Amino acid sequence: MKHTALHAGIPVILLLTFACLTRFAIAQPPQKPHPTGPWMNTSLSPDERADLVVKEMTVDEKVALLHGVGMPTDDPVTPENAPSNRGVGYAVGVPRLGIPGIDMSDAAYGVRSSGVNGRYSTALPANVAAASSWDPDAAYEYGALIGRELRAQGFNMTLGGGANLTRDPRNGRTFEYLGEDPVLAGTLVARLIQGTQSQNVIGDLKHYALNDQESGRNAVDITISKRAARESDLLAFEIGVEKGQPGAVMCSYNRVNGDFACENKWLLTDVLKKTWKFPGFVVSDWGGTHSDVKASAAGLDNEQPGRFFYEKKFKDALDAGKIPQSELDDHVHRILRSMFADGVIDHPRQRSVIDPFAGFETARKIEESGIVLLKNEKAALPLSAAKLKTIAVIGSHSDVGMISGGGSAQVDPIGGNAIKPAGQGATHWMEEIWFPTSPLKAIQARAPHATVKYDAGTDPVAAAAAAKGADVAIVFAYRWASEGMDLKDLTLPHNQDAIISAVAEANPHTIVVLETGNPVTMPWVDKPAAILEAWFAGSDGANAVGNVLFGTVNPSGKLVNTFPRSEADLPHPTLKMPPPASSGFDGAATPEKWAAGLPPFPVAYDEGVKVGYKWYDAENKKPLFPFGFGLSYTTYRYSGLQVTPGEKVKVMFTVANTGPREGTEIAEVYASLPAAAQEPPKRLVAFTRVKLNPGEKKSVTVEIEPKYLSIFDEQKDDWSLLPGEYGIMVGGSSDNLTLKGSVNLK
Ligand code: BGC
Repeated sequence: MKHTALHAGIPVILLLTFACLTRFAIAQPPQKPHPTGPWMNTSLSPDERADLVVKEMTVDEKVALLHGVGMPTDDPVTPENAPSNRGVGYAVGVPRLGIPGIDMSDAAYGVRSSGVNGRYSTALPANVAAASSWDPDAAYEYGALIGRELRAQGFNMTLGGGANLTRDPRNGRTFEYLGEDPVLAGTLVARLIQGTQSQNVIGDLKHYALNDQESGRNAVDITISKRAARESDLLAFEIGVEKGQPGAVMCSYNRVNGDFACENKWLLTDVLKKTWKFPGFVVSDWGGTHSDVKASAAGLDNEQPGRFFYEKKFKDALDAGKIPQSELDDHVHRILRSMFADGVIDHPRQRSVIDPFAGFETARKIEESGIVLLKNEKAALPLSAAKLKTIAVIGSHSDVGMISGGGSAQVDPIGGNAIKPAGQGATHWMEEIWFPTSPLKAIQARAPHATVKYDAGTDPVAAAAAAKGADVAIVFAYRWASEGMDLKDLTLPHNQDAIISAVAEANPHTIVVLETGNPVTMPWVDKPAAILEAWFAGSDGANAVGNVLFGTVNPSGKLVNTFPRSEADLPHPTLKMPPPASSGFDGAATPEKWAAGLPPFPVAYDEGVKVGYKWYDAENKKPLFPFGFGLSYTTYRYSGLQVTPGEKVKVMFTVANTGPREGTEIAEVYASLPAAAQEPPKRLVAFTRVKLNPGEKKSVTVEIEPKYLSIFDEQKDDWSLLPGEYGIMVGGSSDNLTLKGSVNLK
């Protein structure tokens, strides 16, 4: 599972530097098995407990807590990294005082790198899939499962918690994030963090901030106004910090308004630590540190995975008075404080066995609530097994597996790649990994009397021949995505557009199932009878898809990203690519060059706050499928809107299930601001899930956080709720808001 060569775009030479810079390593005294100082008094606050430890520590011990010791996944075992669990990062702790090391693993949609160690971890559906359920409780369950499995494997810190907004739907990490809206992404990531931290694991929120494209991520300099940043990407992080209380925030690779995020005082100190009062620690993205004095003063607390800046250089700067002792103590205090607050000292790591069956169950349930039904003509779905004699299943290796998202998020499937066994269940960087969850088998199991035929879907003529005459043709189409790359366009690759068209022309009862992390364009959208977006579906994806196809589960997911008609409608029709000099060091890097950083290449986010649907609304562009859209096998009616002003605006309405079967409707509440605010036409301000039996009606009340109705006033450097009339719109999709009211705020 060697992924280092390309890991994170970190040049090999630098990784060697991370690994080899052991010459400054401090000889560690033996680890005390359990901490026993006065700081173990649990009636004290995490801050008081951290202070008691800081008082006991030597300068060397303090500095040792500020950096990593290489990447245990790939490095040889050393005395320092030996206690680690061979994840991607490790900080040694304070062995003399019994303070454990911080053992970090990637865990975006499950614990990474398990296979190589002969372990197992559950692959949940991609984060974007879970987000499509708009379900904060599911986000908690998602986080808790990850926390439980991290702990079972011996880790005590996650590196999950991605909440970057989908500013560009071609971003290769879109599947790791939670969509294009800051209120939705912030609310969900907060619950995910709470879930993970409930398992005595330090939570993480990343990548702070504006790391919204992968291309040239180590060099790109994002320019954006403070107002637009605070109202868009940073609002997701603000909600995540305030409500999720993560132990750590990971600063990103890119520059923001001139400074690298990991040495950006505005981001780290002014906004995160002072304004949001974040009490935890900032950890660098892997190789994202570029200085000692500047980064330390800006608010970076921990360098990972190495120690190029935050060991010898840091100490030298401390001795020379360039870094004050109080700054060192603050970094150390923050790290220890999170360790106490998140329970990793009171509840030391203890390995146990993961329950894979419970994992499958959770993964399947979350996938079922995240699948989005995009089209369903003449009730083509759900399928009725009794009526089907022949079924054609076509494409995307649907005989054996379902695709997953790559990069540092990658979870290892049991037994390795379903289409290319790679031994030991390990996976490889930049390789498409298919989970052994077979849609073909899931379909056959639900239609035991039908003849189910499979066609690989590589040739339009053969696929059409397979589809012709079948009672139903189910075409699976996929687009893989990964960290470290962006998609050059939103088109399905491998001639899949032609294959879908050919199948749909051959068989009027064609169902398309998409396995993508990103929006895709659909030149064939009018042809098939039904379209399901199943995302990267996780360990038990096939059963979830089977249950939706055959109606055991009524789909309720809604899009968290707009699907545009074409790239021409995007704020940046052409993705800005870095010039060669800003693309990477290509192995010729020296640590000095790394310190200087790759030459900046500018990308102006001049669309500002107009991210996702706000852009399409403001520019009057009609998308293919709008934000918040998703169909069901039943129908809903909204009525009786009442809006009441107050400390929090209260919105009341009724949702009725007017169709034939039980379902869950995601009700969306949007607001338009007074004209003086100069904002896009509407923004999401609240949402809730309403479960309804056929014929049932429920009255729903939601309250709107004043901040979600406010603008960010740069002069005041604070949120400001303008007086005036606010429109309130409620419905089941951003383009179908049947209830309209208003409220006057003074
Ligand atoms: C990614 C992070 C990840 C880290 C450690 C970086 O390449 O951007 O999201 O946590 O590597 O693997």
